[in-house]
Amino acid sequence: APDLQEKVVNLCRHRGFVYPGSDIYGGLANSFDYGPLGVQMKKNIQDAWWRHFVQSRTDCVGLDSSVILSSRVWEASGHIGNFTDPMTVCKECNSRVRADKLIENASDVTGITEAGGLSCEDIDALIAKHELNCPSCGSKQLNKTRLFNLLFRTNMGSTDETSEWVYLRPETAQGAYINFQQVVSTMRRRLPFGIGQMGKSFRNEISPGHFLFRTREFEQLELQYFCHPNDSDTWYLIAYKFNYWVDECYSWLIKHGVKESNIKKRELAHYARATTDIEFLYPFGWSELWGIANRTDYDLRKHMDASKKDLTYQDPATKEECLPHVVEPALGTGRVLLAMLLDAYDEEEVNGRKRTVLRLHEDIAPYKFAVLPLQSKGEIVDVARTFYHALTKNASCDFDVTGSIGRRYRRQDEVGTPYCITIDFDSIEDNTVTVRDRDSMNQVRVSMDDVLTGKWKGFE
Ligand code: GAP
Repeated sequence: APDLQEKVVNLCRHRGFVYPGSDIYGGLANSFDYGPLGVQMKKNIQDAWWRHFVQSRTDCVGLDSSVILSSRVWEASGHIGNFTDPMTVCKECNSRVRADKLIENASDVTGITEAGGLSCEDIDALIAKHELNCPSCGSKQLNKTRLFNLLFRTNMGSTDETSEWVYLRPETAQGAYINFQQVVSTMRRRLPFGIGQMGKSFRNEISPGHFLFRTREFEQLELQYFCHPNDSDTWYLIAYKFNYWVDECYSWLIKHGVKESNIKKRELAHYARATTDIEFLYPFGWSELWGIANRTDYDLRKHMDASKKDLTYQDPATKEECLPHVVEPALGTGRVLLAMLLDAYDEEEVNGRKRTVLRLHEDIAPYKFAVLPLQSKGEIVDVARTFYHALTKNASCDFDVTGSIGRRYRRQDEVGTPYCITIDFDSIEDNTVTVRDRDSMNQVRVSMDDVLTGKWKGFE
């Protein structure tokens, strides 16, 4: 399986999905830039998420809050005080090691698969007892474990005297809490309802790695679903809503091409509030892809106490007041993009030659169609270009005139294009085209209009 990760990373780099960050200056560790195909695929994922969790729902609305918020937000939410991971530093090679992961990765000797609830002292005792060593150099000389705050801090203001510390957001979620009242009043929302948001988040991770899996700058797709607190008194109702969201997320993944055999639900025991992770079987092991948490009224209450603003919700009919509880499904865009690429990657032998194909879902693949004129000049190209422009009104498409048709098919297979459309001499006469299916490589003759209007529904 590590081989698969390497193949996907290589394909990403060489086919314009993901480039190493700051490459011409020797790179910046664990930072990446999305290339032309990567940014289109990322956008397709975001669109599919937004359509499903915001746009198509009568009970959800969107929001785009700032990356930099008042520091008081992060004080109130507890991030300045408590958003920490336990860290130890190797005395030999100076590398920073995430101490809870060190314990978990050695679970065959420590017997601990979940170190999330352990104190620094507990962790140090386990490290000493099992003589765990630095993952980088193997030394057993590790410093005492201490808590390391993950917030990225920077200055705002033009001069030293007037500048103040501000933080880059470590999650998009807080934007929904601080705008909760405005959304309720301007959008006339009634419980239950959700606020969906997507965008960049930043964490000064102790040990980033595994390509897009853990980076210091990343993107999130988060929904805060506000419910009446009575739902949590009558536990089965909130459990119903909680499990409902876990199932929604699970089926969204399967619908968009993630293999059911590679995902599982995992209930986390060490959190006071219910949390279920949907884990994916990455080449480096089962790891969190989507976290679904019952955040109760914790965040709204903290912001209400700190801001002294009334954030209670009043039922318009009964006038009853309450502080809503929140169920939160939170997904990382890079993590789901990586999962989809890993599950889509395939190699097979066709007529004695290797074919590499990304079997991506058609809503996720960077290009839905590739328009391939059989000749590189003349009327065929003009017709193909006109057809391409019409097609791109509704879908992202590639246009390729170079090389043999076989080579062009292979190039599209490798980037996951579901449908290749060839334009030939007959197309000029009768407005028909040949559509080739990426997966079966079957071909059909279809009218251009049927492709454009969506009357042609694809290969069964
Ligand atoms: N608002 C809740 C929250 O942020 P989280 O479990 O810390 O919860 C949610 O993060 C999701 O964001 C994770 O399940 C993961 O997909 C993604 N994520 C978190 N940290 C990440 C990182 N350093 N790099 C990439 N994705 C990350």
